[in-house]
Amino acid sequence: MNHALHFLSPAKARPRADERARARRLTHRDLPALLDLEHEKWNDVQAASQEQLRERIDTHPDLAIGAFCAQSGRLLASLFLRPVADDFHRSAHTWEDCTLLPAPRTTSTLFGISLTSRDQAGVLALFEFIWPYALKRGWRHIYLGSPLPGLRDWMDAHPKGRVENYVYAQRRGLPIDPQLRYYGSRGFAKIVSIKRNYFPHERSLDYGVLLRRTVPLSVFGPLWAAVSLATVKRVTRPLIALL
Ligand SMILES: CC(C)(COP(=O)(O)OP(=O)(O)OC[C@H]1O[C@@H](n2cnc3c(N)ncnc32)[C@H](O)[C@@H]1OP(=O)(O)O)[C@@H](O)C(=O)NCCC(=O)NCCS
Repeated sequence: MNHALHFLSPAKARPRADERARARRLTHRDLPALLDLEHEKWNDVQAASQEQLRERIDTHPDLAIGAFCAQSGRLLASLFLRPVADDFHRSAHTWEDCTLLPAPRTTSTLFGISLTSRDQAGVLALFEFIWPYALKRGWRHIYLGSPLPGLRDWMDAHPKGRVENYVYAQRRGLPIDPQLRYYGSRGFAKIVSIKRNYFPHERSLDYGVLLRRTVPLSVFGPLWAAVSLATVKRVTRPLIALL
């Protein structure tokens, strides 16, 4: 191991945050399970088709990840990412824009095309899997587009309210929207942009919010480029589990 990294490597590795789920890259063999999860968690308009899922896997196979139950092998969660320009959020208005923008050769930014989960352990495993790889590849920021599932009800109760007021509204220091609260608790706390007609989502009145998370430990960028992925994993796993 690179000597400069010794200070980051505790003597004994702690157990992983959750051993119930294992993450790995997705393949075409996972398509039936992916479709099943899509239709459980998204409605018919929102759910990706088999062709779309296949294309996501083919286009960025390293960024198509699934988390599976360690006992049964059942798919628990999926995550599809793609590289985008660092300032993509200025020109992209809709979710579709974000998925179609050219993928630059070099960038420090990833966009989450989709995160879908039926078990929180799956989401934990997905991110534990992606962080070391993102560090090795020099990606520093991940963006996700969140729906605002509480917006429609809030607007009914506040007919003169502005969407911005809802997005930034907090109760006891946390966003009042349940999904913003959820993402905030998982490190996606930075609200970068509010997008109208982002994605068909009735309860969100089709609004979406682009959220950003900095890849944990990416502040040591050049160090990760200098060592193998196996070393990055070994060094970061116990630290990331603490974040
Ligand atoms: C958002 C999602 C990925 C979270 O998955 P998860 O880590 O397994 O977590 P859960 O679904 O158990 O939700 C965790 C908590 O956040 C809340 N939450 C998350 N999304 C919510 C939503 N859209 N509406 C209301 N509450 C939501 C849940 O109520 C839950 O609260 P609880 O712990 O008090 O029960 C999953 O709910 C999902 O696939 N949703 C549909 C697709 C989606 O919206 N994806 C994100 C946009 S890309």
